Amino acid sequence: AQLLVLHGPNLNLLGTREPEVYGRMTLAEIDARLHRRAEAAGHRVECFQSNAEHALVDRVQAAATDGTACIVINPAAFTHTSVALRDALAAVAIPFYEVHLSNPHAREPFRHKSYFSDLAVGVVAGLGADGYAHALDAAIARLATDPA
Ligand code: DQA
Repeated sequence: AQLLVLHGPNLNLLGTREPEVYGRMTLAEIDARLHRRAEAAGHRVECFQSNAEHALVDRVQAAATDGTACIVINPAAFTHTSVALRDALAAVAIPFYEVHLSNPHAREPFRHKSYFSDLAVGVVAGLGADGYAHALDAAIARLATDPA
């Protein structure tokens, strides 16, 4: 199946961005790992990062007609602000997993609210870059039982 991985704002800076919070792995390394993992399981993954809310909304809308079976998304700061991105995911009704490198619940109060968690199939937080792999594995397992 076709899986889509979405990364929100500032995640292009992974590797150098607050490494004590977000780790030292770059986004390119994370994406390469996800590609290998999906392919090993017989699936395809496309990864897309943007700092722009509209670009992420447009990509989610496009997923409605491009064969995307499941989405893994780290909305980054948009987690706590974006009704528009939430509405896009609700509109396309593609099952999605929410990922955070850090554990937002252990951080500032403004990070405790997510506009996505109540719609997500599952949420992975605080496990660093491995969280993406865990979410991808969960998505693949779900596709095996509930092929879209
Ligand atoms: C993040 C957590 C958000 O609060 C923050 O704005 C990010 C990254 C994470 O992966 O831990 O940019 O989503």
